[in-house]
Order: sequence, then structure tokens, then C-alpha cells
Amino acid sequence: MNKKIKKILSKKNKSKIVCLTAYSKSIAKILDKHVDIILVGDSMANVLYGHKNTHKLTLDNIIQHTLSVKMGVKKTLLVVDMPKGSYSNTKFALKNAQKVMSTTGCDAIKLESNKKNFVIIKKLIKKKIPVMGHIGFTPQFKKKFKVEGQTKREITKLLKEAKLIEKAGAFSIVLECLSADSANLITKKLSIPTIGIGSSKYCDGQILVTDDMLGISGFYPKFVKKFANLNRVIENAVKKYTREVKLRKFPIAKNFF
Ligand code: KIV
Repeated sequence: MNKKIKKILSKKNKSKIVCLTAYSKSIAKILDKHVDIILVGDSMANVLYGHKNTHKLTLDNIIQHTLSVKMGVKKTLLVVDMPKGSYSNTKFALKNAQKVMSTTGCDAIKLESNKKNFVIIKKLIKKKIPVMGHIGFTPQFKKKFKVEGQTKREITKLLKEAKLIEKAGAFSIVLECLSADSANLITKKLSIPTIGIGSSKYCDGQILVTDDMLGISGFYPKFVKKFANLNRVIENAVKKYTREVKLRKFPIAKNFF
């Protein structure tokens, strides 16, 4: 087993697993010094490309950004999201996942559960492609946002789905926007780590979209804490630059040849 994945597994019930997304080398280089997992998320569709959902992102988009991210990663586990439609059947999933792994040198792929693709996960793992699962609010398959696991019936269904993903061989699982009760139960019942986003403090780890937590994406739902306000920082720098160019204060002798 990949050493980096072993390390992630060993953190279960010991220390929290810290994860963030990256789409470029410059951000990945910073994250690499601090986090356990970097995800090249298909959230780039919304964040970078301005799409209203993640559905039109292509495998080539994901591969291009992963190649950039990979240049900034030395030690962190690098996981790559499979875009919608790229794993719609076992044969296609294997071909595309192998392409992502071999062209980018990433460590694992993530795919969203549609409650039917357990066999696909199993096949990828058999072919030595480590898989991270993803349940709850799965934007590739669900049209309307809803917090999942709010009734006993829903919690039972989510637990069953999580267990099937574990049984298929996934090394961890993202829980997106689950009730605290369901996230807690699933985290206790699984032996693989759970990574929460909007799913309470009970998960084994946490993930956020980096652009959201840096205050640059403009998307700040309840589960996002803005750890910085980069929009303001960037705007101030741009204003200062504009002023200095107009006032002929930049460039001065030391800025040119
Ligand atoms: O695409 C993404 O960034 C994700 C995280 C939100 C888990 O899937």
C-alpha cells in the first residue's frame, strides 16, 4: 500500500486529518507544508471556470490542473476528483482513472457515490488505483442542496452506503453536508477515516475548498469559515498599483533595467 495512504489510515481515532483543495502549483506549494491531503476538486468548475455546477468539467481540465498542482507537492497525499460522466461504467472508469493516475502521478482518485457504483470502486482498487468515496450532498448527482441524514431512515441508508464503499475497498470517504448525528455514527462504525465538509466536528478529518476559506470565491455558506479575506487584500494591492502607475510612482529606477 502507498505509504502516504497508510499514514492517513493510521490517523483514525488518533489525530485529525487536514485536507484542502488546490488547482495550481502556487497554492499546492503552500498547502504541502501543512495539510495531510490535497484534493484537486471538481469544485474548480464553479470556482475557476464560473460554471453553475460541476457537470461540464472535463477529464482534460482535471488533468491539466493536477499537472500544475503536482509540481507544488512533495509530501502530501494527492487525490484527484473524477469529473461527472468519466466513471459512468466500469470499463470507462478504469480507462479514465488509469489515464489520470499515469499522466499526473497523483496518489488516488475520488468519486462521488450514486449508491450504485460500488462495483466500479472495487474494480479500480483491484487494479491498484486507491479510491476515496464521497457521500451525502454529491453535486454531480444531486440537483438540489439538502442536508442529508436528518431522519432515522436517512441515517440508516447513509450508513449502509458508507459501509458498502468501505467494503468495496475505499481508503477514506468524504461526508458532505450530513447531519452531525449521521456523521458521528458513520465515523464510529467505519474503520476507514471520514473527511467532513459541512458535516460537524465528529469526522476524522475536515476539508474545505481553499478559495472559500481564503475569502476569495464569494461562496460562503454556513459550513465555510473565512480564515482570511483575500478579496480585500488583493483589491487593496490592485488599487495601490493602479494609483502608483497613474501617479508615475511605479516603476521607479530600481524596477527597470
Ligand atoms: O470538488 C471538491 O472540491 C470536493 C470537496 C468539496 C470535497 O469534492
